[in-house]
Amino acid sequence: MASLLKNDRLLRALKRQPVDRTPVWLMRQAGRYLPEYRATRAQAGSFLGMAKHPEIACEVTLQPLRRFDLDAAILFSDILTIPDAMGLGLHFVEGEGPKFKRTVRSAADVDRLGVPDMETELRYVMDAVRVIRRELDGKVPLIGFSGSPWTLACYMVEGGGSKDFARIKAMALNDPATLHRLLSVNTDAVIAYLAAQRAAGAQALQVFDTWGGVLSPAMYREFSLPYLQRIARELERGEGEERTPLILFGKGNAAHLEALAASGAEAVGVDWLVELGEAARRTGGKVALQGNLDPAVLYGSPAAIEAQARAVLDSYAEGNGGSREGHVFNLGHGMSPDMNPDHVAALVDAVHRLSAR
Ligand code: CP3
Repeated sequence: MASLLKNDRLLRALKRQPVDRTPVWLMRQAGRYLPEYRATRAQAGSFLGMAKHPEIACEVTLQPLRRFDLDAAILFSDILTIPDAMGLGLHFVEGEGPKFKRTVRSAADVDRLGVPDMETELRYVMDAVRVIRRELDGKVPLIGFSGSPWTLACYMVEGGGSKDFARIKAMALNDPATLHRLLSVNTDAVIAYLAAQRAAGAQALQVFDTWGGVLSPAMYREFSLPYLQRIARELERGEGEERTPLILFGKGNAAHLEALAASGAEAVGVDWLVELGEAARRTGGKVALQGNLDPAVLYGSPAAIEAQARAVLDSYAEGNGGSREGHVFNLGHGMSPDMNPDHVAALVDAVHRLSAR
């Protein structure tokens, strides 16, 4: 599989194998900062109208690759497809983000949840993976993804985004058994979802634990980490050269790098609140690291972007015994709609130029 790829830098770096230059892709590389995305979205009518139509999902997946020399494509979809398929009724309210018609707040609510069928209820996602693989034709690898069990639970319990996570934290304190049952069914669904994306053609897999960092270390060890560990352990992903690498990305996961590196995942994604060199030292070559430029650096000038990209590259090498191998360059979190595409081009070119071996 990897051998048919014209650009296998990402897969090699995720396995800590040598590459000619550090691979780079950007979380949320497809999106509203691109005029061609806004045009496609206007035609399709809505975000879900794009995500649920494989040919349109494919088109927006490919848009950033036509502009920038990126080393990977990421499936255009959303982490909330799983709770939507569980029957919670996902919709987007303009200016407010994702919302669910039904929430999960009681033991009876959890009883009603089951693992969706991947080739019927979530077939549109698998079809998108298949169409994108066909259209990519081996240009770069395709990354599939899922939310983490905890991050999905945040949206399911809160009913949408949240500032304080009051309801799910109250559930963690007052009814931890119910929350653990919810996290357990989410974990079963995430494992089935990632396995189905892999079967459909995804060549690397990333779990987004976007809200793990809102937990105290003790609560993270109870409500997020064990479920990430179960995914890393139980997700079937092949052996040797054919193994599909798994990336565990978390916002605010700096306190848990050693545990994440010991989970069995091939790579850990980190945000910009930790020095990448420190992360490399603490994980000691057990995993590849992905990250970790502050996305706000893209608001700086091309010269400032280059300086900051160099600092990330050099920090990694400094903490990794002087070697750049085992690093996938990325932002520490996703891009925003008001970012300048020309600055993205400057970043991608700087990473490639500064990291050439
Ligand atoms: O990285 C990529 O290019 C792949 C696409 C992708 C999207 N969502 C597209 C999207 C990925 C990987 C996601 C994951 C996702 N979705 C996460 C985890 C990643 C992260 O940022 O931490 C989360 C928390 C969600 C939930 C979600 N979906 C939010 C908070 C929003 C934004 C709502 C808003 O109005 O800004 C979405 C919608 C969404 N998902 C958009 C995109 C491009 C914007 C949709 C639009 O209005 O066009």
